[in-house]
Amino acid sequence: MRRIHIAASTPYDVVIDCGLLHRAGEESAGLMRPCRAVIVSEEQIFALHGAALQRSLERAGFEVFRFFHPGGESSKSLAVFGALQSFLCTHHFSRSDAVFALGGGVTGDLAGFAAATYQRGIPFVQVPTTLLAAVDASVGGKTAVNLPEGKNQVGCFYQPRAVFCDRDTLQTLSDEAYRCGCAEVIKYGVLGDRAFFDSLAQTPIRAQEEQVIAHCVTMKRDLVQEDEFDTGKRRLLNVGHTVGHAVEKCSGYAVSHGDAVAIGMATVMRGAVRHGLCCKEDCARLLSVLEKYRLPTTCGIPADALLEACMADKKTADGKLHLVVPRSIGQCTVIPMEPEELRTWLE
Ligand code: GLY
Repeated sequence: MRRIHIAASTPYDVVIDCGLLHRAGEESAGLMRPCRAVIVSEEQIFALHGAALQRSLERAGFEVFRFFHPGGESSKSLAVFGALQSFLCTHHFSRSDAVFALGGGVTGDLAGFAAATYQRGIPFVQVPTTLLAAVDASVGGKTAVNLPEGKNQVGCFYQPRAVFCDRDTLQTLSDEAYRCGCAEVIKYGVLGDRAFFDSLAQTPIRAQEEQVIAHCVTMKRDLVQEDEFDTGKRRLLNVGHTVGHAVEKCSGYAVSHGDAVAIGMATVMRGAVRHGLCCKEDCARLLSVLEKYRLPTTCGIPADALLEACMADKKTADGKLHLVVPRSIGQCTVIPMEPEELRTWLE
């Protein structure tokens, strides 16, 4: 069992363990008075893990409700967000009640944003069931839904009361879903830890899962504690994401987030080599590790379409786009640039 404390504006623990769903009620009762609790999830995810969470919450005195969304990126919409708000209102949820997000990044982002805004904020607990959510999306308080114009365009920072990562839930992930989480894990090596990157090249993530999750959460903790509101160092977590979000959007979200991040990292690394900022050997090393985890490194989307999608991305600030560029594996810098300059990175 690992417990990692996040000293954000609202502090909380990330707990990583097996069998944790069965103890989530007890853990939650230590954080809040037993209350009404809605489990926000997808039906298929709830069928696998919901009963354990619900029973455990009920044993601890919570009155449990369920809200299902259809799943997939289209659930991060204002329409589904509105339906969840109406559900909370119809079931008389008050500011002393709570929202539990059981699922991947889509569920956490949607449920977190609903919890942040319903009656100006009600308690929220993240229960990630994907590797991607465990190592990244569930930690750090980013919540959002999408607009047709772009991903995560409406959202806010809202820290959860706790993150319960039950590693048993990762056993039920499809190979594809696990592979997508691997892209986010590799990202941590690229952005700040070469030795960690090398360990991923040597030993499969599955074979060192608990240490890997704890390592990523610890790296994220350090960045969130230093820059909770994402105006400086936290931006490093976006390596591969500016291009990745554009790939997702241009593909109509047919390319998964993990695959898109892998394509995004490979694209900026190749661009960094072309711009003389990174050596060819490190680029080849990244491509070979991505390929080892069966992640894509290219896509057939034209540079113009990607550029247009990048310009709508939330990382455009003061008219500038902040591109996270690897100088080597384990060392990245943020380069502010005019959106037009990005064209040379996308070709
Ligand atoms: N997923 C990037 C961040 O939390 O900042």
